[in-house]
Amino acid sequence: MTTLAPERSAFLHEFLRDPFTVAAVTPSGRSLSEAVTMTVPGAGEPLVVELGPGTGAFTAAIQARLAGRGRHVAIELNARFAGRLAARYPGVDVTVADARDLRDILAQRGHRRADVIVSGLPWAAFAPGRQDDLLDAVTGSLAPDGSFTTFAYTHTRWAPPARRLRRTLRARFEEVVRSRTVWANVPPAFVYYCRRPVEVQP
Ligand SMILES: C[S@@+](CC[C@H](N)C(=O)[O-])C[C@H]1O[C@@H](n2cnc3c(N)ncnc32)[C@H](O)[C@@H]1O
Repeated sequence: MTTLAPERSAFLHEFLRDPFTVAAVTPSGRSLSEAVTMTVPGAGEPLVVELGPGTGAFTAAIQARLAGRGRHVAIELNARFAGRLAARYPGVDVTVADARDLRDILAQRGHRRADVIVSGLPWAAFAPGRQDDLLDAVTGSLAPDGSFTTFAYTHTRWAPPARRLRRTLRARFEEVVRSRTVWANVPPAFVYYCRRPVEVQP
């Protein structure tokens, strides 16, 4: 009998408890984590925000790139994931909250704009209004010269929520670059690199 590594086992357990919020059966792999977090600058003191860290696949990659510099705020809806993450990464400011409250979370910490926002959120599982609320929070919290990175699974790319995400990103950012497929990930995925947020009028 094979046994699952602790992170995978915790992830699967939380998926079975709440499939629509976790929305994946296994954490992202190393190749995808590196592709998603390569926007974290290698110098300076950036403010990096991570949305939906889960068991910390992207957290580890961000921490490795920061190497003790800057600030790293992680926002996770699932309290069990957040508790594990806070215990494992004492240098990360982990908060149990909805990513839609990002502006308030930054304000409470005396910050207004993040330099980098990295998302692990399951966009394809969100209804249109929820996607919009979350992207409002992202564009309203990102520095004008900052970057927003998120990923999508290749097999869902033609599903209506994934197509809507693509359209919405292009409407909300002047630059949206899609990566090649990361075939090494299970399941294969790709990354959107978004820059220059456009102010959306209410
Ligand atoms: C697909 S998993 C990705 C986890 C991890 N980033 C990875 O790639 O392995 C989605 C994560 O987003 C979290 N999540 C979903 N909706 C959220 C929200 N509105 N605010 C914060 N976290 C959320 C889930 O609890 C879960 O940990």
